[in-house]
Amino acid sequence: MASAPFDQLDGHIWFNGEFVPWKDAKVHVLTHGLHYASSVFEGERAYGGAIFKLREHTERLFESARILGFEIPFTVEEIDQACNSLLKMQGFDDAYIRPVAWRGSEMMGVSAQSNKINVAIAIWQWPSYFKPEERLKGIRLDIAQYRRPDPATAPSKAKAAGLYMICTLSKHAAEAKGYADALMLDWRGRVAEATGANIFFVKDGVIHTPTPDCFLDGITRRTVIDLAKKRNYEVVERTIMPEEMAEFEQCFLTGTAAEVTPVSEIGPYRFTVGEITENLMNDYTNAVQPIKQAAE
Ligand SMILES: Cc1ncc(COP(=O)(O)O)c(C=O)c1O
Repeated sequence: MASAPFDQLDGHIWFNGEFVPWKDAKVHVLTHGLHYASSVFEGERAYGGAIFKLREHTERLFESARILGFEIPFTVEEIDQACNSLLKMQGFDDAYIRPVAWRGSEMMGVSAQSNKINVAIAIWQWPSYFKPEERLKGIRLDIAQYRRPDPATAPSKAKAAGLYMICTLSKHAAEAKGYADALMLDWRGRVAEATGANIFFVKDGVIHTPTPDCFLDGITRRTVIDLAKKRNYEVVERTIMPEEMAEFEQCFLTGTAAEVTPVSEIGPYRFTVGEITENLMNDYTNAVQPIKQAAE
């Protein structure tokens, strides 16, 4: 964790088209996004000075905003350019990029039809989402109390701030019990994902992952599926019930922040960090390097 709070870091933040000093990038307490979670965001990583799959992330940001009923007042190209310029300005090769868009202060009820849409981008150094020593042994997950909601209940395809309320609650509850994270089931009781990453399992050399019909189909998830197919591994996207975890041999998480992280334990179920997991961890590490990105 950074020693200083995040509002006290150095450098600049891109804020509605301007680069402003980090500590001056402030919003008022009466901001719709803060009260009603009318906010969408992205999480991206740069490796060796290049942002991995930047265009896909920016397009998802725009799609998340569209799903929440607002339009980002910039073009995809302008946001891409702002991310790239800010990365250079911050002077990092490896970094985490956080674009965020939210409804402002013009109206403060549930209805916010005329609120200005604000957009900001911050970039900081965020080495490993899970402790590196735990990561290689495999992290331990609890099973969360909260479930991913039915798409008829919440806009589950948007990377919307409001959907993270149950993620923070679940992660806090897991951490209080000594776990690194929590597995969330979906509203039907099927295996869904972790609080900020997708999940995969391995059994008899075949990779199994839940169908993303009520949670994010992560950019890392899709990248890892492609990498697995390049190695001729069979990948099955399907419904996975929690009891099936007793039969799975390996398990890993994927996400921009988590990258590929092996899992050793989920509630009563145990997994080993096996060859397929290790190969995909290494393949992902190679794929994100700028030279590989340019070759794609
Ligand atoms: C809830 C959740 N699921 C899945 C993911 C993985 O998505 P991606 O691989 O696009 O980062 C993330 C991270 O953004 C997430 O927060």
